[in-house]
Amino acid sequence: MKKISGGAFKLKCSVNGRTINREIEPGRTLLEFIREDLGLKGTKEGCGEGECGACLALVDGKAVNSCLMMAVQLQGRKLVTIEGLKGRDGGLHPLQKTFMEEGAVQCGFCIPGVIIAAEALFRKNPAATVEDIKLELTGNICRCTGYEKIISAVEKAQKKV
Ligand code: FES
Ligand code: FES
Repeated sequence: MKKISGGAFKLKCSVNGRTINREIEPGRTLLEFIREDLGLKGTKEGCGEGECGACLALVDGKAVNSCLMMAVQLQGRKLVTIEGLKGRDGGLHPLQKTFMEEGAVQCGFCIPGVIIAAEALFRKNPAATVEDIKLELTGNICRCTGYEKIISAVEKAQKKV
C-alpha cells in the first residue's frame, strides 16, 4: 500500500460492490472508517472491544468485529456492510425481510450485527442447524429481545437465503 504525505495511506478496496480509493490514517479503525468516513451508520459502535458484535461487517465474506480491525487492513479486500446486503431481486435481503415479518427487532441496535453474523454463517455453512445458529450468535449481545425471536427469524430466513 502506498504511503503518502503526513503518514496517511492510499487505500483501494471494494465497499458494497463499488471500488473506492481513499486516504486513510494508519490508526483509523475499520469501524471509524465505515461510520465516519463512508457515512454508513448501519454498523453500530457498542463496546469498542470485540465483545458485543454490534460492529460486525463482512470482509471477504467473513464476519469481522470492525472495532478491532484497522482500516488499512482492507487494502485490496471486499467490505460488505449491512447497507450492502441485498436479496436476489436487488431488494431487501431475506434475513432483513424475515426479521421484519417476525417482529424480531425491538430497539434495533444489535440487529445489523446479528444479520451480518447470520449471513456469514450461511455463507460458510448453508446447512447450519439451530445449534450452529445459537453458537454463532453468542458473540452478539441483544439487550431487548431475549434472543428467542432472533434465533427463530434466522432459522426461518435460512430457507430463503
Ligand atoms: S463495538 Fe465491536 S464488538 Fe462491540
Ligand atoms: S433489539 Fe435492542 S439490543 Fe437487540
